[in-house]
Amino acid sequence: MTLTELADKVDQLSPEAKVLQRVLEITADPNFRVEDLVSVVQLDGGLTGHVLRFCNSALFSLPRTIESLSEATMYLGSRQVANLATTFCTSRSFFSGSFDKSPFSRETLWTRSVASAFAGDLLANQSSYSVTGTAYTAGLLHDLGLSILCREVGSYADVVRQADDDLDSLTGCEQQILGFDHCQLGSEIAKRWRLGDRLVQGILNHHQETAPPQDPQLCSIVRVADVVSWQLFPDPRFQPIKVNVGDLHRLKLDEDHFEQTTEFVGRQMEVAGELLSV
Ligand SMILES: [Fe+2]
Ligand SMILES: [Fe+2]
Repeated sequence: MTLTELADKVDQLSPEAKVLQRVLEITADPNFRVEDLVSVVQLDGGLTGHVLRFCNSALFSLPRTIESLSEATMYLGSRQVANLATTFCTSRSFFSGSFDKSPFSRETLWTRSVASAFAGDLLANQSSYSVTGTAYTAGLLHDLGLSILCREVGSYADVVRQADDDLDSLTGCEQQILGFDHCQLGSEIAKRWRLGDRLVQGILNHHQETAPPQDPQLCSIVRVADVVSWQLFPDPRFQPIKVNVGDLHRLKLDEDHFEQTTEFVGRQMEVAGELLSV
């Protein structure tokens, strides 16, 4: 299947993916109106229920039970509610269905995506990156192309096998065998969904040593967040990947920050626990 054919297939949106697209479209604007988000979320019972369950979880330890979306935005802020909605919609749209032939389990793919989102959010705050919501979304969606390949392309396991134990060679193997890589596929979806240039470039360049001229900071956030997720949830088939010091420099962080971020995200993932299960 070509990149366009795969993207077309994903583009024939399920009702769930349509909600995700709408949520992402609204929240791509850093100054989005919370009413716009709430009006989309509340039309969807499953989504509303999940957002409220999350708000009332140990992750936030709020002093009282939240019963409505407007209360949720009041206590947690509109960005946090947007992140929760995006997370649930992404799991429902892209991490459902059969991953029988996938070289990575659905749970592993999803767990790493959420860990990258948490790490992206934290790194954005630590490095004073102003568009924090985009960092969360970029962390969550950076490997969207990978999940699609795992779910839709039966022979993708052969591509991963070709990469042997070197994860850095994976995109090269994808290019060689499929004619495109998971970064291009993910960014094509982001482009079609009008998620903004920042996100499109962040997804496209997340395995690139050299950051793109437009928003290199976001690109480094995603790359470091990705390493955090692999360190927390390693795969014995691959050698561990190391954080790139150039990325840390760009974010004005050092290796201690990286260690602390990894530890903190590990704790967040434990607390988020079953709420994240797909
Ligand atoms: Fe990737
Ligand atoms: Fe990744």
